[in-house]
Amino acid sequence: NWAHVEMAPPDPIIGVTEAWRADPDPRKLNLGVGAYRTEEGKPLVLACVREAEAQLMADPNSNHEYLPIAGNAEFCRLARTLALGGDCPALQGGRVATVQALSGEGAGGGNGGGRRGEGVCMARTGGGGEGRVATVQALSIEGAGGVEGGRRGEGVCMARTGGGGEGRVATVQALSGTGALRVGAEFLAAHLPSTAPRVVYLPSPTWGNHKTIFAKAGFQVREYRYFDAATRGLAFDGMCADLASAPRGAVLLLHACAHNPTGVDPSPQQWARILALAQEKALLPFFDSAYQGFASGDLDADAASLRLFVRSGLELVLAQSFAKNMGLYGERAGALSVVCKCKDTAGRVESQLKMVIRPMYSNPPMHGAAIAAKVLGDARLREMWRVELKGMAERIISMRRALYDALYERNVPGDWSFVLKQIGMFSYTGLSRVQCQKLVNKWHIHLTLDGRISMAGLSAQKAPYLADAIADVVAN
Ligand code: LMR
Repeated sequence: NWAHVEMAPPDPIIGVTEAWRADPDPRKLNLGVGAYRTEEGKPLVLACVREAEAQLMADPNSNHEYLPIAGNAEFCRLARTLALGGDCPALQGGRVATVQALSGEGAGGGNGGGRRGEGVCMARTGGGGEGRVATVQALSIEGAGGVEGGRRGEGVCMARTGGGGEGRVATVQALSGTGALRVGAEFLAAHLPSTAPRVVYLPSPTWGNHKTIFAKAGFQVREYRYFDAATRGLAFDGMCADLASAPRGAVLLLHACAHNPTGVDPSPQQWARILALAQEKALLPFFDSAYQGFASGDLDADAASLRLFVRSGLELVLAQSFAKNMGLYGERAGALSVVCKCKDTAGRVESQLKMVIRPMYSNPPMHGAAIAAKVLGDARLREMWRVELKGMAERIISMRRALYDALYERNVPGDWSFVLKQIGMFSYTGLSRVQCQKLVNKWHIHLTLDGRISMAGLSAQKAPYLADAIADVVAN
């Protein structure tokens, strides 16, 4: 039956980790996926996360029941407040609808509240020999019902006054950033006004999965100029020109901070101009916020672009991930928020977000969102988190300095000061595909072939080795 199935290419980012794992060379280095590593090259579990998890485990009332379709309501409330700010007029006016999302692409079967399932093809007997079972972990089996709980309609009751009335906030938990983007894209494809084009504008370049997510949801994907290879900065004029010629009502994908892959963010003045263009062209901003706290080490500063847009009164969509800033990568803790005009709309939007979620993965996993909610909701744990997050951001910045200095010492041709200037987890080196392949094959330095390197995967000990390798591939 499956003999005709062709081998799919490895994922451009996740495939790098697979190649790194398979590489037997002891010098190997994984600078592909954006995942924070300690100076020893190990994954980091934050102390605040460990403590929150211990508290959850010790709770005699903890269980593995289903979450509601929209996820953990307390998590949703805390997540959107983190992004939009406690003093956000939209929150006070209740104009945002948020649901927890599963960070990513759900699929398949499993077992309930733990959302651990496997989409397993159970080929047991018959010819074909061993190794005939293709297994991918999936997100539990559909159709098993769920526990009604949490705070239904939360976000609807918290509003005070202000334009649009109360309860204009709707939030759903999501499968981290990817899941929030996918649920958001599916919702928009189904519910944008019939007059709005199903067109999304993505920065060029952008995180590779953006294109696929929106295309799978039925959007026509277009790009706006973003990165200027000559200056290694923002192609701001080109970006403005492209947005000015976008059709009215198109969706505009924006990275809230720490643009992935370039590490180049607009200045506050440039953000103000982008907002004006979005208003002029009635574009629907869709913020992807995967790095709040990672850009500057300051959670509020890293949300400034998003808050500027929300305060302007625009309706918008927000995908949030806690993968990087809480180190909850595999827990798939994220949220999707839709800023609406009024309470009625937010309530209806939330109901439709649930209609997207239910046939996709039914309801989200509880563990990661419970951890995040504990950290965000407990003043002491939250302060621990703030300090630890700042520590991660500072280590990444110190890796920029270490790499720059090592390149400088080796007189590597070119101006490498961009390594110091770029923001967030990544440095976009400008190395060609061939040079990247040489880094992989000769030096066992694994990276995406667009020249992006994860600074969070580097250590002071390995920076000279990376500089030697870059010097080699640049020279030859
Ligand atoms: C990355 O860009 O490396 C991360 O966002 C991980 C991913 O899922 O691609």
